[in-house]
Amino acid sequence: MTTLSFAERLITWQKQHGRHHLPWQVGQPYNVWLSEIMLQQTQVATVLDYYPRFIARFPTVASLAEAEQDDVLNLWAGLGYYSRARNLHKAAKQIIDEFSGDFPQSRSELEKLCGVGRSTAAAIAAFAFQQRETILDGNVKRVLCRVFARDGNPADKKFENSLWTLAESLLPQKNEQMPAYTQGLMDLGATVCKRSKPLCNQCPMADICEAKAQDRIAELPRKKSAPEVKTLPLYWLLIRHQNGALWLEKRPQKGIWGGLYCVPCFEHLNDLYRYASLFSISPDNLEESSAITHRLTHRLLLITPFSATPETTALPQTVSDGLWVAPEDLEKYGLPQPLQIFLQHNLSDHVAVKENQSAKPAKRKSAK
Ligand code: ADE
Repeated sequence: MTTLSFAERLITWQKQHGRHHLPWQVGQPYNVWLSEIMLQQTQVATVLDYYPRFIARFPTVASLAEAEQDDVLNLWAGLGYYSRARNLHKAAKQIIDEFSGDFPQSRSELEKLCGVGRSTAAAIAAFAFQQRETILDGNVKRVLCRVFARDGNPADKKFENSLWTLAESLLPQKNEQMPAYTQGLMDLGATVCKRSKPLCNQCPMADICEAKAQDRIAELPRKKSAPEVKTLPLYWLLIRHQNGALWLEKRPQKGIWGGLYCVPCFEHLNDLYRYASLFSISPDNLEESSAITHRLTHRLLLITPFSATPETTALPQTVSDGLWVAPEDLEKYGLPQPLQIFLQHNLSDHVAVKENQSAKPAKRKSAK
């Protein structure tokens, strides 16, 4: 009896049980690229909400390359990991300037684009150009470590390289099988071979799965040691104009919420007091709200908002970077998610929250 190969099993399973009809599965390479960048740290359900709006606004690489960064970040607001949006915008310009507008087709060329690493480049090459390239994201690593009982330290480069080699050896022979195979790897990891409570009775690999045979499903893959999460206290200064407008600044490109608009934000309370004094706001005039926590990958932000409406709203000479934004115009600016949520809860009578964007945090893929 011949046993079916890993690839044959996966492709047959994907056709019957995998995810079909995702909007980016029918598009151009541009659509595939955009979806893969959005899906890097965000779950499919959330991307299904953001992706159509992004495509409606920027339907082509050229339209994205010509866009203002503020408009790109505004459409990304709430998805988190904003470097993805900044890199996407830069990469669109690269495609126009360095590739004469022709979408790169090989993995090695795709890897030259800002924000595109080896696995993402392989996914684009496989989906959009039927190239025999392998992906290896966290879900795929889990599938391989279990099916082939690979036991190693996930932080070890040698172990990681051995998984790339294994993944390459499993690719189907025919190029036209690459989209179903690649989608199958992703779907199996996300829906069946889950980290906890895997559905082994629905798995097309159950009878060849070495971890299952050895009763080591719960043990493999080995866990990465949890990253150290430091708490970072931050202080927000919400300056309200007597006409209701809010004072916003554009955040520096580097660092937390790079390129988004935010109320003045400080690591030290004294700096907030100093800034407030420029608007003739004394510490006594500041109203403190309860602190908000917001988790980033390696940091827990502990944000204390302070609000005031100054007597005079003539702009101090010394404050050049910033602008008054009327409540009804706030939706035109990309704001950090916790600020959006704070404004929605605290200034709900004044503040328009984006119509089609809930202020619930976007669903992130769990940190790997
Ligand atoms: N995660 C990353 N890429 C994906 C895709 N194309 N479909 C579903 N989940 C994904």
